[in-house]
Amino acid sequence: MKAHEPLRIGIAGLGTVGSGLLHLLAGHGEAIAEKCGRPIAIAGVCAKSREEPGAKLTGAPWFDSPAGLAVSADIDVFVELMGGDKGPALESVKAALGAGKHVVTANKALLAKHGAELAALAEENCVSLNFEAAVAGGIPIVKTLRESLLGNTVTRVYGILNGTSNYILTRMQREGLPFGEVLAEAQALGYAEADPTFDVDGQDAAHKLTLLAALAFGVRPNFDAVHLEGIRGITPADFQAADELGYRIKLLAVAAKKGGGIEARVSPTMMPKSSALASVDGVLNCVAVDGDFVGQIILVGPGAGSRPTASAVASDIIDIARGHMGPPFILPTAKLESQSRSQMQTHEGGYYIRLSVYDRPGAIAAIATRMAEQRISLESVVQKRDAPDLPGFGRPGQEGDPTPVVMITHRTREDQLRNALDSIVKDGHVQGVPQMIRIEAL
Ligand code: HSE
Repeated sequence: MKAHEPLRIGIAGLGTVGSGLLHLLAGHGEAIAEKCGRPIAIAGVCAKSREEPGAKLTGAPWFDSPAGLAVSADIDVFVELMGGDKGPALESVKAALGAGKHVVTANKALLAKHGAELAALAEENCVSLNFEAAVAGGIPIVKTLRESLLGNTVTRVYGILNGTSNYILTRMQREGLPFGEVLAEAQALGYAEADPTFDVDGQDAAHKLTLLAALAFGVRPNFDAVHLEGIRGITPADFQAADELGYRIKLLAVAAKKGGGIEARVSPTMMPKSSALASVDGVLNCVAVDGDFVGQIILVGPGAGSRPTASAVASDIIDIARGHMGPPFILPTAKLESQSRSQMQTHEGGYYIRLSVYDRPGAIAAIATRMAEQRISLESVVQKRDAPDLPGFGRPGQEGDPTPVVMITHRTREDQLRNALDSIVKDGHVQGVPQMIRIEAL
């Protein structure tokens, strides 16, 4: 490839992101050519069918299979926008790297599961594997970690990495609605997928966190190391209690250095209303990084959508056109350390607990005793006698009836708290399963 010759790209997948990329290249092709010193030429496309949104936007040569496009002598860069962590996406990306083609992908699931293997293949073949669009859509966090923050030791990377769940939690908080009702409405409006599992159960955010942790801490991407909890169990009662106590509840993804390892988790988390992340609402994403020299930086923006994601894909293609290269996860793959599964038993922090306590003499005293036995100090205890009729609050009434009690603990270890809650349940003072939400100081 000579510097002034076009960079020839092959695009596999012409759905939302692929058609966004075609629009971007059509509108900004000349300006990009000037910035790169060479044009970007679409040398081939393929998609599931010619009915895909982008198929009618280009007259580029059509390929029947992604694997065929991936190894075509007519392309320099294979742009994988199909999705999926196996099958055609995995096979075609491997084939492209093996054939000495650069790869640009938006596929977080693929990289979270096979990132180390694919990065090694890219290195062996001296080609790029770029994935800015795989984490938080239009937010340039991959480049920020790969380039701008390299002078720092990163101690924590965290954020709101799933727009669908953030939209649902925002509506629940503002309108006091239960999870199921907001989800059904979001599905009817097309905001949430018919199968919302990956969004609301945390896998999508965990895929992204896996990549952030690899970049921030020099570890091999390991999706299985992330502790995962989704948002289905959060109730309007939790939002109301959080609001009264000065907190918001978000599905937070956090990877932080801890002891000799890394704790990575995606879970509903309470954070002070005053923190910057607490006001990131609706479908917006945000990513924050704590670095030893830079301090805290926070990037907020659209985490999905045709144009923002295309913007990220284009930046990766432009990097290749300009000859900017480096190992996909900053360090050579052989130097990436392995990352073991996060052990939440050893997590330390404050906790929110909501119990439905049988309202009878000695109940609170017995609960406090179980907490004290585990050396857990309580910051606040609120018995909601006048609790509203909200799901999760129960219906207080006569002595003996279940009454909501909300507690905030001082910093404690999670195994001690779980032991205390087990004893409290066994003692028979509470109805149902206690609600427990970690509090994160941000
Ligand atoms: N479904 C994701 C979200 C976007 O709701 O944020 C793609 O990862």
